[in-house]
Amino acid sequence: MAVLALALMLAALVAWLNVRGEAPLGTDEAGGAAASPGLIERGAYLARAGNCVGCHTLSGDAPFAGGRGVETPFGTVFAPNITPDAKTGIGRWSSSEFWRALHHGRSKDGRLLYPAFPYPSFTLITRDDSDALFAFLRSQQPVNRANTPHALRFPYGTQAALAVWRALFFRPGEWVLQAGQGAQWNRGRYLVEGLGHCAACHSARNFLGATSVNARFAGGLMPDEAWYAPSLANPKTAGVQGWQRDEVVMLLKDGVTAQASVAGPMAEVVYSSTQYLSESDLEAMARFLQSVPVQVHEEQEFERASSDVLRRGAKVYEDHCASCHGEEGEGVASIYPALAGNRSVTLDAPNNLIQIIRRGGFPPSTSGNPRPFGMPPFRQVLSTEDIAAVATFVRQSWGNAAAPVSAFDVHRAR
Ligand code: HEC
Ligand code: HEC
Ligand code: HEC
Repeated sequence: MAVLALALMLAALVAWLNVRGEAPLGTDEAGGAAASPGLIERGAYLARAGNCVGCHTLSGDAPFAGGRGVETPFGTVFAPNITPDAKTGIGRWSSSEFWRALHHGRSKDGRLLYPAFPYPSFTLITRDDSDALFAFLRSQQPVNRANTPHALRFPYGTQAALAVWRALFFRPGEWVLQAGQGAQWNRGRYLVEGLGHCAACHSARNFLGATSVNARFAGGLMPDEAWYAPSLANPKTAGVQGWQRDEVVMLLKDGVTAQASVAGPMAEVVYSSTQYLSESDLEAMARFLQSVPVQVHEEQEFERASSDVLRRGAKVYEDHCASCHGEEGEGVASIYPALAGNRSVTLDAPNNLIQIIRRGGFPPSTSGNPRPFGMPPFRQVLSTEDIAAVATFVRQSWGNAAAPVSAFDVHRAR
């Protein structure tokens, strides 16, 4: 009896935690009043800042029609159709229901949404901005495309599991200006922590995939576990605290600077989102990013690789890499990144280095760097052992110092 009572109390608590802060929905008509062109234009800009297109569009398909899978350790969550189609999209939604989705992570029919939709960040979006986003999405071409069902392992696919997760880790936020900080800093925080959802990738995650407030920006494996989003608090990894302000702006606008170039998922962020932001918004983001308190971890001890491995790596480097990155890893300014002194080569987690060698890649094409030079993929050309050896070689040459990469690391990163 006591056990039953306790179970009921817990269930009631979880249920309550899942609706706290939710006001009853307003009675605005589906679609609300006709939107002004100004509102739609503002919404279009905000949609860029939130990179809605990035997840809600299958490559080569109609924008916002959904279908792209977000990989998580628990299975795949498919982004839905958010075009104004009445049957398969959000054509019958009201602006209040749309706001509730962003702010509380709840769908029109009351279903709880998975945090693969970054509402733990979007919860900071203001009602005004939500209405502008809604007006913009309603102005798009409706596309009839049924949503792809999620493919999550039991029990993660159940609403009960999600309700418990939310009770533990999700708290609806509220956007409040931080006193003692200027308007520019606050604008930057809104864009970085809210709409831009930088923490969705750049935070450490616990075993249930939740990012914690303390670990905000501390860096972590991305939900697909292929790439590592380095710490924005650590100037040795992805922190920009010591940079010139205009270099930070340039990184977000062009994707390349003299000392860094974005790759992989970060290249997608620059490509479909930050390159479109105004100079003043980028400056605000840079200002906020530069104020993130510095947290530097103790250097990890590591062993130098055996001379056999280094010799093998040097040979691979000479044959396949030196033509672009230079004999001494010096690179060619603004064309081929230097590997000597490059912080993305020496991250503790070797994931990104391995992915770049395996998959190659292009920096994003942006107005400041319209025809970027690319790097060919090596997964068909080099064996697992060769990739491990050359990765180890670049981590331990020209003054770079980081732990060796093993064939097992390369195998696991696939
Ligand atoms: C990181 C990927 C990602 C980004 C970025 C993203 N979404 Fe989503 N969104 C999703 C996923 C995945 C779902 C489905 C969640 C679920 O079904 O549990 C979703 C669900 C939604 C829903 C609920 C739709 C429904 O049918 O219940 C709305 C509305 C929505 N997103 C709007 C937006 C807007 C507006 C933006 C930009 C400001 C945006 N999303 C950015 C991944 C994303
Ligand atoms: C989809 C996941 C994802 C999101 C969202 C994301 N990042 Fe990143 N970011 C990464 C990954 C992965 C890297 C490492 C690869 C690289 O260096 O480009 C990275 C690298 C960086 C770097 C270091 C770049 C360098 O080469 O030194 C900065 C700075 C950065 N991100 C800032 C941001 C900001 C600001 C936002 C929000 C507007 C953001 N990121 C959103 C995944 C993400
Ligand atoms: C054809 C020229 C070319 C060759 C050959 C080449 N690369 Fe690259 N490499 C590039 C370009 C261009 C980039 C920038 C790509 C990007 O930003 O997505 C790059 C990026 C990188 C990066 C990421 C640097 C950063 O700042 O994010 C690493 C690490 C790297 N290459 C290592 C290698 C290794 C190891 C080899 C040999 C196995 C190799 N490259 C061969 C052109 C090349």
